[in-house]
Amino acid sequence: MSKRLIVGNWKMNLLRKEARLLAKRIVDELAALPAQVDVVLAPPFTNLDVVYEEIRGRAIELGAQNVCWAESGEFTGEISPGMLLDAGCKWVIVGHSERRKYFGETDAMVRDKVGACLSAGLTPILCVGETWKERQEGRTEEVITSQLRSALRGLSITNPRTLVIAYEPVWAIGSGKTPKPEEIGFVNDLIRDIIRDIGVNSGGEVRLLYGGSVSEYNIEYLLSAEIEGALVGGASLRAEAFVKIVGASGVH
Ligand code: PGA
Repeated sequence: MSKRLIVGNWKMNLLRKEARLLAKRIVDELAALPAQVDVVLAPPFTNLDVVYEEIRGRAIELGAQNVCWAESGEFTGEISPGMLLDAGCKWVIVGHSERRKYFGETDAMVRDKVGACLSAGLTPILCVGETWKERQEGRTEEVITSQLRSALRGLSITNPRTLVIAYEPVWAIGSGKTPKPEEIGFVNDLIRDIIRDIGVNSGGEVRLLYGGSVSEYNIEYLLSAEIEGALVGGASLRAEAFVKIVGASGVH
């Protein structure tokens, strides 16, 4: 199994001073852990620089929560892959369900964003996941297949380490509910079949994360689904919880 990847998605939280403090605490506490896990912090755009100052030169990398598909031009309010790289980011979350739900992000936009990131050398963390209604209707497989196929349509991914896929069931985000490990395993097998089918290497090297109510209390249970890491929202805002999640992910 590849080295696991734990990503802290801070969402729209924290002012600059608070962000710096949290990053500093995470850096200090992680220094005591053996570096068996890749760790990424994804703060809001306005906090990228202060977080970068704290994590620079440490075993933690910077990520953003959104990106535009274009490199520059008339896209008021947007940030390009090149700008994120310039700010120190190596990673970016793409297609998060909150962006799809509140900001009208479509599968086509997600595809263009993934493509732009890959061309620029920024690693996309592509999110896919079904709603509760879709799950109840037995449509999980169909939804994941459609989201994933359309997000990767026409892209040539020669190095599977340049892509990360996060399975984030919409109903698990911020709800305290999680799927059972075997349900995550089922979706991960499906994702691997799809990426193998569309020719992304053997499909075995793209890291598959799980996201949705991951905490220091359930991480061990979720890791039994053989995930290669986690996308952590709420718990990543608590240094102690986040560090415990990272710690638990390294010992397996
Ligand atoms: P959560 O968020 O851990 O707070 O459920 C995860 C996410 O939305 O990435």
